[in-house]
Amino acid sequence: MYVRMLVILPLLAIGLEHSALVLAKDDAKDIFENVCSMCHNDAINPLDNVHHTRQEWNEILKRMITINMAPFEESKIPALVNYLLKDHGPN
Ligand code: HEC
Repeated sequence: MYVRMLVILPLLAIGLEHSALVLAKDDAKDIFENVCSMCHNDAINPLDNVHHTRQEWNEILKRMITINMAPFEESKIPALVNYLLKDHGPN
């Protein structure tokens, strides 16, 4: 019994850590697809061809919250910037 716990606990820890990472990734995608699209879509302010550096995205996303009242947590900005840099980074 005791030996079995020793085997299971590390596996549990890895499982939790893994799901937290996946959650963070989905979080950013979720915000982009559901929150940004409230104000940015094909018809209004499209983001398809918008490209920015990491620093620019940081400033823009902060402005979305403080000035444009975009409803997402400021704590999500780092994950969002990482997500945006994949398809909307500088080029
Ligand atoms: C509540 C509405 C709203 C939401 C939600 C919103 N935006 Fe905006 N966004 C605006 C408005 C209004 C402007 C134009 C004024 C400005 O640039 O601040 C804008 C401008 C922008 C610009 C152009 C900035 C520039 O300097 O040219 C980018 C890029 C942008 N938004 C990205 C995003 C992203 C990415 C998200 C989601 C994380 C988002 N916005 C969510 C309203 C919103």
